[in-house]
Amino acid sequence: MNCNMAITFKPDLENVDWDEIKDKIVEDHYDNSRTPEQLRACFENSFATCIAYDGDKIIGKARALSDGVCNAYILDVWTYAPYRSRGVASQMMKYLFKRLTGQHVYLFTDDAVEFYENLGFKRQSTGMGKVVGKWLE
Ligand SMILES: CC(C)(COP(=O)(O)OP(=O)(O)OC[C@H]1O[C@@H](n2cnc3c(N)ncnc32)[C@H](O)[C@@H]1OP(=O)(O)O)[C@@H](O)C(=O)NCCC(=O)NCCS
Repeated sequence: MNCNMAITFKPDLENVDWDEIKDKIVEDHYDNSRTPEQLRACFENSFATCIAYDGDKIIGKARALSDGVCNAYILDVWTYAPYRSRGVASQMMKYLFKRLTGQHVYLFTDDAVEFYENLGFKRQSTGMGKVVGKWLE
């Protein structure tokens, strides 16, 4: 992997290849069964998004839901495995934060606790969740 590539970050979803994202998250075992079209809808319906590129290749994604006033929720933070540990996800989070000033930002994570602690997140009281009906139906 060339280490001198120019990594760029875009807040818009113009020309995003959702099939490319789907293929790469499957390769990285970070797929939760959404189709490329469902991934597109998730991002288009989000308050803030960030897509990371190496040239024209997608290497990361992140998004935030928000009421635009006081509460936001971070989801779908992913860096393509060959590009990890270079600050890509931290930078994507900073792009999201630019849209979230003044808001309480929540997230739920199973295994990337240290990553979020590095960005200033603190553990909070027990999260709760429920799937309404059947997942993805
Ligand atoms: C977590 C993830 C987004 C980090 O992406 P990244 O671009 O490598 O992150 P950065 O380079 O900005 O930060 C790296 C630092 O975050 C922390 N970190 C990264 N991945 C971590 C993990 N899985 N668990 C705990 N800490 C982690 C480490 O401190 C790491 O520093 P190091 O590389 O010196 O060890 C990436 O590993 C990933 O896509 N994982 C699979 C998807 C995932 O778990 N997403 C989070 C879901 S809530």
